[in-house]
Amino acid sequence: MQPAMSEVEKKLREALRSARPARWLASTPHPVLAEALGRWADAPSDMHDHLGALFAETLAARPRLIIELGTRGAVSTRALLAAAEVADAEVVSVDIQDCSSLDMSERFARRWRFVRSDDIAFAGEPFALFCAERGLPPQAEAIFIDTSHTYEQTRAELEHWLPRLAPEGVMMFHDTNMGDGWFRRLDGAVSRGWDNQRGVIRAIEERLGRRWDESTYFVDVADGFLVRHAPWSSGFTALRRLGPGA
Ligand SMILES: C[S@@+](CC[C@H](N)C(=O)[O-])C[C@H]1O[C@@H](n2cnc3c(N)ncnc32)[C@H](O)[C@@H]1O
Repeated sequence: MQPAMSEVEKKLREALRSARPARWLASTPHPVLAEALGRWADAPSDMHDHLGALFAETLAARPRLIIELGTRGAVSTRALLAAAEVADAEVVSVDIQDCSSLDMSERFARRWRFVRSDDIAFAGEPFALFCAERGLPPQAEAIFIDTSHTYEQTRAELEHWLPRLAPEGVMMFHDTNMGDGWFRRLDGAVSRGWDNQRGVIRAIEERLGRRWDESTYFVDVADGFLVRHAPWSSGFTALRRLGPGA
């Protein structure tokens, strides 16, 4: 049994707590991930604190094909390409804007295809055709969604892309905790975002029949998925499809 705390110890603990507010730093020690990220390994971005989780969740799905919906500055793309390099897989990034120029070495760039399209439009026939041309089944082991962060769009993405998720695949979402328009990073820094009215997390809750407090760190098992949620940096949620019998 732990000995009772003395008054001096209690005061010391309180003093330490206020002098050293909770903060952590995210690092990316894996050499392939570090190489793929380059300067993005340290540059502040709303994805920064989730790059390690994105890499790990993707690798754990033993990917052949990785899909990224929402590309913009391609920060997340780099973590996905690192996973692709380790797993010998391919990454397809989709965006309605032209995001086709990627400043990366051939080691990673050769694994990347960019498709300019609305992500819902690409989920149907175009995706099936894309896979058939490569001799792949029309499914992906890892799908990362980071588009408009609205409820309607996320609902549509779940409807059209869940059928494309491999039996033990993982679907990951950024922006599942956008709060009231401010987000806090792991290191304690606060930045301005926007209030999406719980759009992304609400659509996932409805799909899986659950209600969560997305400002907390949690894991859950719901409707055949293992759910892992990190609340910092606008939130990152991974839905890993559990195999038959789960
Ligand atoms: C938040 S940014 C993506 C950031 C990126 N994942 C990164 O880490 O740098 C969102 C992107 O989603 C794209 N987007 C929005 N709606 C879309 C849709 N319906 N289909 C495809 N892309 C969409 C936008 O053009 C924008 O480039």
